[in-house]
Amino acid sequence: MHRFNGQTVVLTGAAGFIGSHVAEALLRAGARVIGVDNFDPFYDPGQKRSNAEAVGRAAAGAPAGPGAWTLLEADICDGPAMGRAMALATSGGASATLVHLAAKAGVRPSLADPAGYARTNVHGTAVLLAEAARAGVRRAVVASSSSVYGNCPTAPFAEDADVDRPISPYAATKRACEILGYTHHSTTGMPTAMLRFFTVYGPRQRPDLAIEAFMRLLRAGRPLPVFGDGSMQRDYTYIDDVVSGVLAAAERIDRHGYRVWNLGSDRPVALRDMVAAIGRVAGVGPTVERRPTPPGDVERTWADLTRSRAELGYAPSLSFEEGLRRQWGTVRAGV
Ligand SMILES: NC(=O)c1ccc[n+]([C@@H]2O[C@H](COP(=O)([O-])OP(=O)(O)OC[C@H]3O[C@@H](n4cnc5c(N)ncnc54)[C@H](O)[C@@H]3O)[C@@H](O)[C@H]2O)c1
Repeated sequence: MHRFNGQTVVLTGAAGFIGSHVAEALLRAGARVIGVDNFDPFYDPGQKRSNAEAVGRAAAGAPAGPGAWTLLEADICDGPAMGRAMALATSGGASATLVHLAAKAGVRPSLADPAGYARTNVHGTAVLLAEAARAGVRRAVVASSSSVYGNCPTAPFAEDADVDRPISPYAATKRACEILGYTHHSTTGMPTAMLRFFTVYGPRQRPDLAIEAFMRLLRAGRPLPVFGDGSMQRDYTYIDDVVSGVLAAAERIDRHGYRVWNLGSDRPVALRDMVAAIGRVAGVGPTVERRPTPPGDVERTWADLTRSRAELGYAPSLSFEEGLRRQWGTVRAGV
């Protein structure tokens, strides 16, 4: 049970997949939430507007009252705007936390736009951390990614593994954010958590991610493009588990100073098994079209959860198929 009564959270990426679920959970837990999102066109901004509307509905019954949810449409690289968001959060001496999830996400598109990814992910993170410190925000929780592990030879991946060989620009920006976060903590003393998310799925999943893309294609009766021989593995993590890990990190980072935590499932699934499981959930035999594996994609991800279980009380529980069933119930046909 998470408690955020009397606390304010500046939540970037609040209209996105993970951000909108985190916003709802924070509101339920008693926080006042100041969301920041620029409705980046990486995927249909209409989907993000609908996510934000769902958060607005959740706010209507929030313990912190009807003013508990504010959404600022702004770019995280805009220093003065971020300064105003932080000042709003700390006004009246409120205890404020930065939960920073906004990013250019996705491995493959980063290959074509490394500078754009660096600007939003690295420069934007530097702006936010500096403005948070200036305004007296108490702590920061920042989204990193399992992609920082690259093709790490030892699995499962533990937080203290060597992560200095990311194989995509996206992964490199996330690793850069972790290092910036460490420096921010050491220069300002602000407790700072970096969360390595492992392929998150569930309702509102980004349409560029395989499960959502495959489900939309299946609903439209189209074949599924499958990379390589289907042996690539991902440690798929259900959205509710990630949300609970994000809130636990915000509650516990003060004890640790700077900390990296994996939020995964410790349950890697091969691509071909994921396709078969979606077929079972959908009640159809998917037709598959083989494609070459694109550069930048790692062979597998697999989270070692020893540290996050011990320090966050993190305990993912839902079966993969049950998670798929919940997502399938929300997916409409599309391409
Ligand atoms: N979904 C996953 O499987 C996964 C895995 C690892 C890490 N992550 C990280 O988790 C975070 C959230 O991912 P998501 O899947 O919810 O993605 P998402 O794209 O749905 O959400 C990100 C949000 O950030 C916003 N945004 C982008 N650039 C911005 C800017 N310059 N200013 C303000 N807002 C901006 C977007 O409009 C979007 O709403 C990201 O940092 C991502 O890198 C996600």
